[in-house]
Amino acid sequence: MSHIISPSILSCDFARLPEEIKMLDESVAEWIHVDVMDGQFVPNFTFGMTMVEAVNRLTDKVLDVHLMMVEPEKYIERFRKAGADIITVHYETCPHLHRTLQQIRECGAKAGVALNPHTPVQNLFDILEDIDLVLIMSVNPGFGGQKFIYSSLNKIKMLRDEINARNLDIYIEVDGGVGLHNAENILNAGANALVAGNAVFGSDNPKDTILKLQNIGFEKGF
Ligand code: DX5
Ligand code: ZN
Repeated sequence: MSHIISPSILSCDFARLPEEIKMLDESVAEWIHVDVMDGQFVPNFTFGMTMVEAVNRLTDKVLDVHLMMVEPEKYIERFRKAGADIITVHYETCPHLHRTLQQIRECGAKAGVALNPHTPVQNLFDILEDIDLVLIMSVNPGFGGQKFIYSSLNKIKMLRDEINARNLDIYIEVDGGVGLHNAENILNAGANALVAGNAVFGSDNPKDTILKLQNIGFEKGF
């Protein structure tokens, strides 16, 4: 099974948004990762559903929306209406996570849960059946261009073993510090979706970098 590349527009040039989205649209990336930050849960601020709606009008790719915000349950329907296909909330911001995941599925989106570096994957084991995607944060959320935290590899392995043992179909997506230097290790650990911001938009040829990320491990069949 091949993996998914989800370039993060956090690192794109917003003054050239239509061109950047067009480039992604023409690339082999299947998803586009959209980082929503509220300045409360994370020490940074980005954008909301108006941006998701704008990106949605520029592409037919799957919109992979990562909500780094408190009380995401208040806005799920509006993000879905704006075009979000996958809605990922943070474990750390959802006291009623099971209910929030149902809310996401009920409005027709895939339900994702993001885990900060200190949150154990075991915290999700009781509700794995209600999850479509687990986003392993391999940096502290808030900024692009940070260094990959290598203990994330163990978390990926533990989660992959559990998912396989229970024969579930759940994406393991990894976000933060992912690039050509470590993508193979991350995929080997059991991830099947890679977010890449700086590695793509900071490179000389973003479209080609996406292709290279997609081709990693091809000969080995993943
Ligand atoms: C970080 C965001 C990431 C970010 C990744 O809080 O969730 O999606 O865009 O950027 P890179 O790939 O540059 O670490
Ligand atoms: Zn993200």
